[in-house]
Amino acid sequence: MSHFLGIDVSTTATKALLIDEAGRVAAVASAPHDLSTPRPLWSEQDPAAWWEATGLATAQALAAAGLTGDAVQAVGLTGQMHGLVLLDAAGRVLRPAILWNDGRASAECDDIRARLGLDRLVALTGNDAFPGFTAPKLLWVRRHEPDVYRRVAQVLLPKDYVRFRLTGGYATDRAGAGGTLLLDLQRRDWSDEVLAALEIPRAWLPPTHEGPEVTGTVTPEAAAVTGLRAGTPVVAGGGDQAAQAVGVGAVAPGILALTLGTSGVVFAPATRPLTDPRGRAHAFPHAVPGRWHLMGVMLSAAGSLRWYHDTFAPELDYDVLLAEAAGVPPGCEGAAFLPYLSGERTPHANPFARGVFFGFTLRHGRGHATRAVLEGVAFGLRDNLRLLGEAGVPPPAEVRLSGGGARSPLWRQILADVLGLPLTAPQTTEGAAYGAALLAAAGTGAWPDVDAACAATLTCTPVAEPHPEAVERYEAAYDTFRRLYPALEPLFTAGREQPAEPARDTAAPG
Ligand code: XUL
Repeated sequence: MSHFLGIDVSTTATKALLIDEAGRVAAVASAPHDLSTPRPLWSEQDPAAWWEATGLATAQALAAAGLTGDAVQAVGLTGQMHGLVLLDAAGRVLRPAILWNDGRASAECDDIRARLGLDRLVALTGNDAFPGFTAPKLLWVRRHEPDVYRRVAQVLLPKDYVRFRLTGGYATDRAGAGGTLLLDLQRRDWSDEVLAALEIPRAWLPPTHEGPEVTGTVTPEAAAVTGLRAGTPVVAGGGDQAAQAVGVGAVAPGILALTLGTSGVVFAPATRPLTDPRGRAHAFPHAVPGRWHLMGVMLSAAGSLRWYHDTFAPELDYDVLLAEAAGVPPGCEGAAFLPYLSGERTPHANPFARGVFFGFTLRHGRGHATRAVLEGVAFGLRDNLRLLGEAGVPPPAEVRLSGGGARSPLWRQILADVLGLPLTAPQTTEGAAYGAALLAAAGTGAWPDVDAACAATLTCTPVAEPHPEAVERYEAAYDTFRRLYPALEPLFTAGREQPAEPARDTAAPG
């Protein structure tokens, strides 16, 4: 039987997942990597660690499934988006990779807006400049590390460095390329105008491919490290959010993917490029050929609950905290939480936004505080859904929930009530690696296309229905939540000399 391998180069670990021809998971293995924060706002990783972890995880997954490399028909890659990997002309890494959650490049975002103008930047790329995106980081290296910059010959995203080690070739997927801020969103290829305005040579960038397209084959050297067969095709795959969307079947308009991981994501597929006129939502190509997506990303979603647990009740089981929260009525009797523990990306692009507990009285207890965290994250997701709606995303026919936080029935119910929408969840919860494996299968003939791969392998079941009474109660609470950020924004900005440490993308228990 043929198998397909999905490799997810995430921030915390590289995961290898094998599926069979029916989409059943045959084995999963992962190997961790470290993250270093040498200065406030910095977040870096050693690309060599990703490759080492890829070798370990792939060999372990093959062993766990009782397979040899001959059984694997194709490989799909996914991973953390926006990271900057710099290579010299000999393919050697020039400095540690600068990751998606690195916040050092704010001044370079201003520079990019000044060079192109916000309107032109959004018209070409679909996006405003965020410090986490790749282009601002490249300009940061140019300004602060000229000796490194002088030797640059190739710019890659993290998973594409693993692709280079696997196949010996340079290539990227268009969904991931969108997150660099160098892509022409409409044409789905590098923008000569943006590259010229930022004075970045096009030769530094790899060719772009649609998600299921084959970009190369496994080299004999990589076969020796991973256990794969030399010559195995490697498809483009997708950035982790696009691959995650494929993994839950959010591939066509109407199906919205909601991810409650460390960060919180609202992902809407589209058949044409949709953008927010101010570039506040992320507009990238989808990993599905010829489709796009618009997405909102909150930086601290389940990460807020993990921080709250670890800080205030590390000795308690999550279930105990959640049971206390379940006893508190919707709206928390006026208590509220702003989940901006790592600053925020959408809809408030502000690295200096901060977490806030609001509205507590002597009457409020720990259950209120816990529930305020759950509700605050749900309100943040509603803000993002609203932003997407304003940019032209129609009301969804189905909302598919995934991520560690989705395991909590209480949080699922709060989300359904706050959004006023029923929620479903896919039976497979392996996320981005599963989507990458489906892209490999669709790209090498197991299914005619990505839609057919999703339809054949994914089933979703209802997990929460909105309760009209709670929906109504949340309207007033959401109104308070929405007024808090504008009221506090001047104070956040006044505190900008104390930057937050960047977030990590570990999965938080729900
Ligand atoms: C998406 C994003 C994260 C990273 C890390 O815009 O920043 O999903 O890819 O997982």
